[in-house]
Amino acid sequence: MKSFFDCYGNRVLLSFMDHPFSLKPRHVWIVCRYKGQWLLTNHPERGLEFPGGKVEKGETPEQAAVREVKEETGGIVGSLTYIGQYKVEPSIIKNIYFAEIAAIVEQSSYLETDGPVLLRSLPENIRFDKRFSFIMRDDVLQYTLKEIKRRSL
Ligand code: GTP
Repeated sequence: MKSFFDCYGNRVLLSFMDHPFSLKPRHVWIVCRYKGQWLLTNHPERGLEFPGGKVEKGETPEQAAVREVKEETGGIVGSLTYIGQYKVEPSIIKNIYFAEIAAIVEQSSYLETDGPVLLRSLPENIRFDKRFSFIMRDDVLQYTLKEIKRRSL
């Protein structure tokens, strides 16, 4: 279990075990790769981030992940792998997934975001890079990328 603070000083607990905080998390976050590039979305206020959002009534977290990726980037999930879970105290619990994107299909609207952004690499100093959303600028991303590499995904 990792423990650290986010950009706002909230405590974050992160684990790559099987659903350590909740079997029914209300949020999902999906690290997406398309043809060797990272697929993100551009949120008008928060900035660049991997897609994610809330699990809706009647949905599984996996269904929410597939839907959020499509809504925010037009990405069609080819394969989805559970990576871990994190808790932002006091009450946000998110499942982290890794998705290989099979295709990107243009959408008429990307809901609250400005749609897909493909990046060959993520900046090393992303923590201080204000083009990126706060959810990309704490240790969740760094540990998650390491775990994806460790599993050779
Ligand atoms: P509403 O029901 O719309 O009020 O939302 P909510 O409270 O269920 O969750 P929301 O996504 O609005 O997040 C509330 C707060 O939790 C944010 O303002 C952040 O401070 C924090 N938060 C949410 N997601 C993340 C995340 O991925 N990382 C970090 N560090 N904080 C997050």
